[in-house]
Amino acid sequence: MKRLGILLSGRGSNFEAIADSVEAGRIPASIAVVLSNRPEARGLETARRRGLNAVSIPSKGLDREVYDRLVVAELRKHEVDLVCLAGFMRLLSAYFVREFPLRILNIHPSLLPAFPGLDAQHQALEHGVKISGCTVHFVDEYLDHGPIVVQTPVPVLDGDTDETLSLRILKEEHRIYTEAINVVLSAGWRIEGRRVVTAR
Ligand code: GAR
Repeated sequence: MKRLGILLSGRGSNFEAIADSVEAGRIPASIAVVLSNRPEARGLETARRRGLNAVSIPSKGLDREVYDRLVVAELRKHEVDLVCLAGFMRLLSAYFVREFPLRILNIHPSLLPAFPGLDAQHQALEHGVKISGCTVHFVDEYLDHGPIVVQTPVPVLDGDTDETLSLRILKEEHRIYTEAINVVLSAGWRIEGRRVVTAR
């Protein structure tokens, strides 16, 4: 059974969706540890309540790689096979990425490469796109950049605010993160250039 490590910085609704899928047997893995750079993250509290290992490693004042060495050590301690960033608002160092090659996923609330970075839903509204969406991708050392595993479109409606669009996208995030984890845990995929190609 593969072991997941979840990294989050806040609310943790994507983590909860993954945890629900694990519990329901929709993901053939266990959650080995939930880790946050913010001690007050609501997701950590939820993890504790669900009886999972919840660890806080504050990043304040630490150099990026020094911090990442602490996080990688914790993930190793829990024998994590696949790292899932779920609203983890930090760029990973090249060191971290090398330690888990093609074994780190991130979810982003836009159709990448459109609108990387913060407040992607606000960026989409400002730009006036009619369709946005969400993306689960492998993490490399660049922001919201690695090979795409799963993407899904979400319509932008005329009356949308940041909140209404974010909610519509979030619902799809919760669905595609499980799908993407299952792709990566299955044997049937390979990378061709930037493309993640599934066997079937
Ligand atoms: C999610 O919408 C996620 O896609 C986004 O933060 C939110 C976290 O919510 N991540 C990014 O913008 C990363 N660039 P959650 O804590 O409820 O899962």
